[in-house]
Amino acid sequence: MRDVTARKKAESDLKQSVSLLRATLESTADGILVVDQQGRIEDYNQRFAELWHFAPGALPRTGAGTPLVERSDENAIAHVLAQLEDPEAFIARVRHLYAHPEESSSDVLEFKDGRRFERYSQPQTIDGRPVGRVWSFRDVTARKVAEAERARLAERMQQTQKMESLGVLAGGIAHDFNNLLTAILGNANLLESEVAPDSPASESLQAIEAASRHAAELCRQMLAYSGQGWFIVEPLDLSRQAAEIVDLARASVPRSVHVTPCLAESLPTVTADPVQLKQAVMNLVTNAAEAIGEREGTITITTGVDTLAPGDLASRTLVGHVGPGRHVVIEVADTGPGMDAALLNRIFDPFFTTRFAGRGLGLSATLGIVRKHKGAVEVRSEPGRGSVFRILVPTIEPDTSRPTPTATTSTAEPWTESGTVLVVDDDPTVRRVATKVAQKCGFKTLKAADGAEAIAVFRAHAEEISCVILDLTMPEMDGDQVLQSIRTIRADVPVIIASGHSESELLDRTKSTEHVLTLAKPYHIDQLATRLREAVG
Ligand SMILES: Nc1ncnc2c1ncn2[C@@H]1O[C@H](COP(=O)(O)OP(=O)(O)OP(=O)(O)O)[C@@H](O)[C@H]1O
Ligand SMILES: [Mg+2]
Repeated sequence: MRDVTARKKAESDLKQSVSLLRATLESTADGILVVDQQGRIEDYNQRFAELWHFAPGALPRTGAGTPLVERSDENAIAHVLAQLEDPEAFIARVRHLYAHPEESSSDVLEFKDGRRFERYSQPQTIDGRPVGRVWSFRDVTARKVAEAERARLAERMQQTQKMESLGVLAGGIAHDFNNLLTAILGNANLLESEVAPDSPASESLQAIEAASRHAAELCRQMLAYSGQGWFIVEPLDLSRQAAEIVDLARASVPRSVHVTPCLAESLPTVTADPVQLKQAVMNLVTNAAEAIGEREGTITITTGVDTLAPGDLASRTLVGHVGPGRHVVIEVADTGPGMDAALLNRIFDPFFTTRFAGRGLGLSATLGIVRKHKGAVEVRSEPGRGSVFRILVPTIEPDTSRPTPTATTSTAEPWTESGTVLVVDDDPTVRRVATKVAQKCGFKTLKAADGAEAIAVFRAHAEEISCVILDLTMPEMDGDQVLQSIRTIRADVPVIIASGHSESELLDRTKSTEHVLTLAKPYHIDQLATRLREAVG
């Protein structure tokens, strides 16, 4: 007889603790592998086999003696290494750890299929003596993807904010300059009509006019960039527009540059401003020609339709506000030197240029115009491989509820009228120019320097006033409020709103469009005269 109570108890305890260990090992989302000092597999959990895509039964367990690094199981080790981006670095780390059994370490493993594992390795000790090692692996792919996505969004957000504040700045400057230019251009126009055509002063006046026009062009680019340009949107068939653009491009590039059209027969209708859109494309054509320079080269202008899936929005480098759906695409590709990533990052910044004579406004304006059309610009370029710029404009049902404003036509025809015109503008020089023009047309004039004064003057002369020339942007009370008040006094008086704002924005803001005409600043005095005639006539 032998008393085995203690042994049986020890055996049962051992069973209990092994079962607990097993359950613990299997309960975690981490893949765990236990090896001895020689690298032989002692144990692993199911998750480990799953993570590393081991077929069931492919890994022997517990004392079966499969050295992972000693390569007596070539298959297992080859299976692991084949999945990694950098197998050499991994095997070197493993060797290092087996040579230093007391060390623990961690890192992130990159897989060829894009997965990412966090790896930990910790020595297993008995009485302080290392006897083996526990490896654990955690699949962090989703987290890493989310982190990268968050970083990308943050960067995009920052970029958008930068663009927006630059847009506000550019728009503000352009607005002020528009007022100044209205005064300069208007006064030059007025003077010119007073001096004899053969006078030497006439030549200088024409030079002032030409310079003002040039400056006005700059303002227009800046306003376009800030999304406040002079926009007149209409349903547009771009296939006809594109042919015109090709002709224009041919005329404006050097002879050594070939312009190759590749135009779709018909395109879906978009709601767009033809003049602005042409400007947007021509800015790209000019850049392409300048990139090609003196060499021989080709600019290919392609039109077509691109349907964006929601996934495309994140994966493609689209600049602007674009949603999924059908878009008309106008593409300008060149065989120039192309751009590197650093350059690509900055090209849309206003005033960024690498050209000696460049102003750095071309692409900014293009982007502003395209944004205003709720579209986007896509750029693909590499050094030595040319550049491709694509403008995407969403195809939407045109909004027919809004009347299409008539285009401004300039006329020098002398014309006189009688009646009284009220000129409202906070800028004294603009006020003076408008007053003079109205007087030249035969009107009597009244003036007001702000909204409150305008309403007071209008109330006092309501019956005799035949037209109001109203500045939209004024401190304290803006033109819109003045318009509402005037309407309550006399509903039918014609009002000409003069502003650097876009037409569609003006119409949004002035709501009731009856008896309202609009005029873009800076204007030629003839344009104001035409508007006066339209208003009173
Ligand atoms: N097709 C292209 N190929 C190579 N580089 C380009 C191309 N288009 C633009 N760039 C680069 O982007 C910069 C900015 O272009 P952007 O049109 O805004 O200004 P710009 O052409 O320099 O001056 P501006 O158009 O006001 O006269 C250019 O200076 C050039 O470095
Ligand atoms: Mg340019």
